Amino acid sequence: MSAVIRDVVRVERGMPTSDGAGVNLTRIIGTRQLLDIDPFLLLDEFKSDQADDYIAGFPPHPHRGFETVTYLLHGNFHHQDSRGNEGHLTAGSVQWMTAGRGIIHSEMPEMTEGLVWGFQLWLNLPAKDKLTEPRYQDIPPEQIPVFDNGGIKVKVITGEYAGLTGPAQTWIPALYLDVSLKPEQTFRQPVADHLTTLAYIIDGEARFGRPGEGGSNTRRELLIFGTGDEIQAETRDAEVRFLLLAAQPLNEPIVRGGPFVMNTHQELQQAFTDYQNGTLDR
Ligand code: FE2
Repeated sequence: MSAVIRDVVRVERGMPTSDGAGVNLTRIIGTRQLLDIDPFLLLDEFKSDQADDYIAGFPPHPHRGFETVTYLLHGNFHHQDSRGNEGHLTAGSVQWMTAGRGIIHSEMPEMTEGLVWGFQLWLNLPAKDKLTEPRYQDIPPEQIPVFDNGGIKVKVITGEYAGLTGPAQTWIPALYLDVSLKPEQTFRQPVADHLTTLAYIIDGEARFGRPGEGGSNTRRELLIFGTGDEIQAETRDAEVRFLLLAAQPLNEPIVRGGPFVMNTHQELQQAFTDYQNGTLDR
């Protein structure tokens, strides 16, 4: 049977906002227009060469009930948590952090000038795993396999592309690719119909979906795909770079309050109580 190419059914643009100690960023998922798209809870792009925009970083703050995935394109970050874990993120590295039952951490730039650019994604955890022990996967760039052939370059963070398997372990089936296409290229990737599938265009432009259908999409657009079992992107005169994200929806209730994402109001209240009592990360 031939593949059914998934068309773009919705396009969203991010909203400028600030978070942490006043870090300016673009929120793409987690906005009023797109609060979440199961199982994706948040997607931020931070990009600035102005130290004032990022220098204050993200001082200690808690998380419970989901995973944070930080993909750094430029710059250096220092990560530290209240359990004594510590790590350095360099350009091209990924931190896949399972907050589980709770962590309190800081994420601070290690530089006072130059470009800081990256993404943070929040991926929900199934109800049965929300209180799991926290886990870190700090993945340096050299551990991320890269397909690079004939004008198509794909970094495989998790999932598979062209026989390459990404290193990140996930709680639910997921795909995270960083795709760059030169002009006049066609990219194809099977993605099972039941997975929520998104593309975020980092730069350039391409046509997504069935060939000949619809116009081009351009940078800073988030594309949400409809039913089918293959993603297709085509470039003409321009290049494109995009993140391709897919994951199994959980179909569970989401009760969200700031840095905690649980299934019931009672669980959310418990998270705030644990945080106030100093037992969130015990
Ligand atoms: Fe955080």
